[in-house]
Amino acid sequence: SVQRTLSIIKPDAVAKNVIGQILARFEQAGLKVIAARMMQLSREDAGRFYAVHKERPFFKDLVDFMVSGPVMVQVLEGENAIQKNRDLMGATDPKKADKGTIRADFAESIDANAVHGSDAPETAATEIAFFFPEMNIHSR
Ligand code: CMP
Repeated sequence: SVQRTLSIIKPDAVAKNVIGQILARFEQAGLKVIAARMMQLSREDAGRFYAVHKERPFFKDLVDFMVSGPVMVQVLEGENAIQKNRDLMGATDPKKADKGTIRADFAESIDANAVHGSDAPETAATEIAFFFPEMNIHSR
């Protein structure tokens, strides 16, 4: 069925100037960008967005990294969008990501891993609402 998913192009990929190359992969896979914003996250934003990871040992590094530069945040829509985006991204750790995936091609480390994507329909809904009011989502 047609789904929406939240995608973030992280500070490492923005700094590498590959926003366009990453968005092109989404488009080539049949996903449509129906909302987008470029922004500098505050520590509070990053901590709230990743609240589920608060007790994990990597939480502080994760927040430090996500506020290290601007990010590009978008909503992708399409058939099976959540899994499709995860397949395009590849494994969280770029060393384990399949050849030809975004993380294999553009990411350096498990922290600087180029992109984030929602992992399930419930988290997609929460994550989309975190960044975008419905009136700024343009589905046609
Ligand atoms: P992301 O999909 O944005 O969700 C949480 C992020 O934490 C993850 O990508 C990684 O960049 C980062 N991270 C760092 N260490 C780990 C780890 N051991 N397991 C999962 N995520 C990690």
